[in-house]
Amino acid sequence: MTDIAELETETLAAIAAAADEAALEAVRVGALGKKGSISALLATLGKMSPEDRKTEGAKINALKDKAQEAVAARRDVLQAEALEKRLSAETVDVTLPVQESGQELGRIHPISQVMDELTAIFADMGFSVAEGPDIESDDYNFTKLNFPEGHPAREMHDTFFFPPGADGKRKLLRTHTSPVQVRTMLSKAPPIRVICPGRTYRCDSDQTHTPMFHQVEGLVIDETTHMGHLKWVLEEFLKAFFEVKSVKMRFRPSFFPFTEPSAEVDVQCRRKDGDIRFGEGEDWMEILGCGMVHPNVLRNCGLDPDKYQGFAFGVGIDRLAMLKYGMSDLRAFFEADARWLTHYGFRPLDFPTLAGGLSG
Ligand code: DAH
Repeated sequence: MTDIAELETETLAAIAAAADEAALEAVRVGALGKKGSISALLATLGKMSPEDRKTEGAKINALKDKAQEAVAARRDVLQAEALEKRLSAETVDVTLPVQESGQELGRIHPISQVMDELTAIFADMGFSVAEGPDIESDDYNFTKLNFPEGHPAREMHDTFFFPPGADGKRKLLRTHTSPVQVRTMLSKAPPIRVICPGRTYRCDSDQTHTPMFHQVEGLVIDETTHMGHLKWVLEEFLKAFFEVKSVKMRFRPSFFPFTEPSAEVDVQCRRKDGDIRFGEGEDWMEILGCGMVHPNVLRNCGLDPDKYQGFAFGVGIDRLAMLKYGMSDLRAFFEADARWLTHYGFRPLDFPTLAGGLSG
């Protein structure tokens, strides 16, 4: 007869040694299955005397229970181990750097960023965006804006002219965004509140001038708008754009053919180690030109100057970008150097809004 104690030792050792659930099942079948060693032992009870059956039966059943418990306990351990192994194999390493898609690697040029910022700020004040063509007529670029024929102010614009057309008139690359004022007044009845961002061209090139550059024009026309409104709009704009609580402005009398009175606006700043900060300091920096729209311009655009009035302003966008984001050489804006753009550009999904923050 098989020694029960020996069988117990063997069976429990085999259960403990089962490395996985399949091996454990094989051990279970080998001991407790129909033809298993413990079942075979149980089958011997029938041939025993009633006394032996009593004592042996109790021992064999105790062994059976023990083996069943050991199998169940081992199964629990193996299942827990298998789960642990799976979890650690399937772990996602959240510290891995994110692989950026090609789309996210691209950068928004600082000029586009500043245009988006301007648009967000002025849209909040009720302005819409107006546009005009880069190739403009002499009439819209100069004459309607009250630059008389032969006036020296025309010469100051270093204009790129096209050869004369069949009508003998020369088209030109617009030298400022002011002709969009003309187009707006000719096509839209007051009240008018627009900004006109866009490309402008002059035959000029050095560290702070490029033949193509960017301006934004502002125009407000209605029956009551006055210079106080102009000052408020500019102050709100400058505060929002430079993201400061207050700005000090200085209006210097100036001359533009299309405004009367005309002014140039300086903003107080502090220059330190080549850095410029707004909203503090004792220095002044010229930022823009502005004024009340000249009655001749209103008349040239079909508006009655006795009924309508308003203001206009013009700002260099490139200069605004340089001042806000600390870029010193304007020419780099147009060199399409991917390294420069990676450094100074903006992430495409960080669109500037007043609510979410302009510059992120
Ligand atoms: N057009 C001017 C320039 O390019 C800028 C300017 C000044 C625009 C005063 C305006 C203004 O609308 O009122 O130099």
